[in-house]
Amino acid sequence: MTSAPDFDEVIDRRGTHSSKWDMMSRNYGVSADTGIAMWVADMDFRPPEAVQRAVEDMARHGIYGYFGDDGAYLDAIRWWMAERHRWEVEPEAIMTVHGLVNGTGLCVQTWTEPGDGVVLFTPVYHAFARVIRAAGREVVECPLALDEGRYVPDFAAADAQMTGREKMVILCSPHNPGGRVWTVEELRGFADFAKRHDLILVSDEIHHDLIYPGQKHTAMPLAAPDILDRLVMMTATTKTFNIAGSHTGNVIIPDPHLRKRFQATLGAVGISPNSFGLHMATAAYSPEGAAWVDGLMTYLEGNREVFDDGLSAIPGIFSMPLEATYLAWVDFTGLGMSEAEVLRRVEGEAGIAANHGTTFGRGGDGFLRFNLATPRSRVEEAVDRLRRAFSDIQ
Ligand SMILES: Cc1ncc(COP(=O)(O)O)c(C=O)c1O
Repeated sequence: MTSAPDFDEVIDRRGTHSSKWDMMSRNYGVSADTGIAMWVADMDFRPPEAVQRAVEDMARHGIYGYFGDDGAYLDAIRWWMAERHRWEVEPEAIMTVHGLVNGTGLCVQTWTEPGDGVVLFTPVYHAFARVIRAAGREVVECPLALDEGRYVPDFAAADAQMTGREKMVILCSPHNPGGRVWTVEELRGFADFAKRHDLILVSDEIHHDLIYPGQKHTAMPLAAPDILDRLVMMTATTKTFNIAGSHTGNVIIPDPHLRKRFQATLGAVGISPNSFGLHMATAAYSPEGAAWVDGLMTYLEGNREVFDDGLSAIPGIFSMPLEATYLAWVDFTGLGMSEAEVLRRVEGEAGIAANHGTTFGRGGDGFLRFNLATPRSRVEEAVDRLRRAFSDIQ
């Protein structure tokens, strides 16, 4: 028997080596005693009971040796992709890595050389640029355009930026930040862009299950089956089920030639699976996990509404309508304040740690990203604090 998840339960994560809560004072100067952590993308919820049971079974057995026989794990992935994304995945195409930042780094190592350009449509998840630069490659930032307050690709501008030195484009689908669920036409546009400039397209779809009711995500291999010879797709259970500490993700490569090259990199750096990650993911990709995600998205939809309604009462502040993800992307530029003044109010007065927009690349200035995956009472408290911190302009 499983009980319904209680997303309202406030669980104190302080003192548990939680990056989100235990690093917020160091990273943002916001006290963990009184502050609200709304930055890094993990949730303040327990995962489905099936995942807890998998870890408890491991603990009860008490031997933590190397993992072998990934048949059940691969079956669970295949079931999930077919059931939730109408996508048939070949088990041979799936390679398991230690999370998708790790996967991104391995892709950069596999298909680019130092000095090559890697294209990002910005603002975008900050770790992409960090990994590319750390590997001595150049980040080519192509800003997304804004159309009625939502991001859209500007392929003509991106085409004009290409020099011929670019070898790869990394797409975030759905997009973080801003939460766009790219349409099939837009996905086709990214695929054609990759073709036009002879780029490997890495499609990071880690947020693909966190889709709000009424929206539909399409896996890149379905949107653009004609580019499988240059496509690398990445997914994971970690964002969906809040198990990011298990550092497990999948790099899915339908084309056997591309796959061989990636496998050579895996061999060269000695990657083998994390048994906790595989046990948890196998349990998560199940009917019980699916019901949990449906409940989660209904709850997050409520949080999004509370947050957006509350912020819309402050003139000059605009929270982008999220189609996916729990990461609200808020534009403060309409206030005409300096970034320092906005941060003084948000961090200093409201005591809220949110990601700084500048870290997401071109187009991120003047924005902050707020993580809404926390009990409703905390979202309400955050809204109250923000309204007080900007009370002079209401
Ligand atoms: C687009 C994207 N990719 C990857 C990650 C992190 O992946 P992992 O924890 O598997 O390294 C995040 C985390 O927020 C993300 O937003």
